[in-house]
Amino acid sequence: MKQSTCQSSDDVLALFAGAGGLSYGFSLAGLKPVAGAEIDSDACSTYRNNLGSACFELNLGTADPDFFTKILSGKEPLAVIGGPPCQGFSTAGARNAVDPRNALIFNYLEIVKTVNPRWFVFENVEGLLTSGRGEAVAALVERFLLFGYSVRLQKVNFAAYGVPQTRKRVVIIGNRLGIDFEFPEEVYSFDSGKSKKRSAKPFAPSINQALAGLGHAARDRSMLVGYSTSTPASQYDALMRGKNESTAVSLHWHSTDDEDVERFSMLAPGQSMKHLPEELWHPSFRRRAFRRVSDGTPTENRGGAPSGIKRLHADLNCLTITGAATREFIHPTEHRALTLRECARLQSFPDSYEFSGPVNAVSQQIGNAVPPQAALSIAQHLMKLDARFGSDLGVSDRIKSPRLLGFNLTDSLGMSEALRETEGRLVRLLQPTLF
Ligand SMILES: C[S@@+](CC[C@H](N)C(=O)[O-])C[C@H]1O[C@@H](n2cnc3c(N)ncnc32)[C@H](O)[C@@H]1O
Repeated sequence: MKQSTCQSSDDVLALFAGAGGLSYGFSLAGLKPVAGAEIDSDACSTYRNNLGSACFELNLGTADPDFFTKILSGKEPLAVIGGPPCQGFSTAGARNAVDPRNALIFNYLEIVKTVNPRWFVFENVEGLLTSGRGEAVAALVERFLLFGYSVRLQKVNFAAYGVPQTRKRVVIIGNRLGIDFEFPEEVYSFDSGKSKKRSAKPFAPSINQALAGLGHAARDRSMLVGYSTSTPASQYDALMRGKNESTAVSLHWHSTDDEDVERFSMLAPGQSMKHLPEELWHPSFRRRAFRRVSDGTPTENRGGAPSGIKRLHADLNCLTITGAATREFIHPTEHRALTLRECARLQSFPDSYEFSGPVNAVSQQIGNAVPPQAALSIAQHLMKLDARFGSDLGVSDRIKSPRLLGFNLTDSLGMSEALRETEGRLVRLLQPTLF
């Protein structure tokens, strides 16, 4: 295990910082990142405006890792956090294990190696697990172990941490303190229709609860829309209003045209484009539908959302918010698409969070983010573990050498062939004798 002689600090560094969802959750826990790094100027601007921290606009594929040592004044930080881009892995996009953007996960790793934080938190899409038949994730974990980190990898559903949306992601957490740690305990049960885990645990906020209190959506981007009630209409509404000094919100507008109003009015909750008469299908959906029939390409290898549009259920949790959510998701009871502010709420960004850039850039920033409420749970958990190391950590909580402490690739009973292959690669890393 790497022995450090450097001074350490409680600083946090955010890589691939995006709009700052992950960072904002950490700041809610009292761990505001000293800086973020991000290639996109609009996302950087969102980050600076809301976090009040520096955001360095740079390409992390070519940046010198020593740059970050200087930012951190040579001190080893508490944590490096971040989610490298996932386009090459996502099952929602065209999947390509050799997408050069996949190499960015290894740039993340190099920066961790250089700045040597006590902890790292790495977030990515599920597709990471099976990309390149599990080679990418196994190589990543193996190198973290070689750098002296004890690692736990888990497929999590962020709804289990109180986000009103089912959102499955892979999270890898590592520490070089020799702590045998678990992931934060799941607190909520959830069900979006597509992804569910019903139990005696309280139900994560429904869409209805999440959007309560927002006023009637405007038709004009520049308008601020007043809340529909003077006091919060649900617990989640109160959380979202938070310290919003204004009595109105931005980004609560839509541009649904008459043709779409006709389509949407025919769809009940849970129904999608395929439930409409064929003459009402969007041309892009028609092309995809027929192409699928004619060439038999599996859905996961095909770009775009297969359902085209979908009416949400008011009493369930939302489906995963992506950069396309304002085109895909129909409000549960109104004949219009979701607004950007609704998407931000469903991602648990507070109403005071302002996003910079044109509409497409904003929807991408929102769709890319780690929901701050889930990030908050991770940050609080990590703080507790980090504090314990200095005080009451018993010998039994320590591990002798860095190793893969455990992994959970799925909550389902069955496992796909591809996932089984990944499991085989990771099982090999569970053996402590390897390092
Ligand atoms: C999944 S998003 C991160 C979201 C962020 N963790 C959050 O919670 O809001 C990935 C980010 O990586 C950024 N990115 C992509 N390629 C990059 C590169 N070469 N260098 C730096 N950032 C990059 C994208 O612009 C995007 O904002």
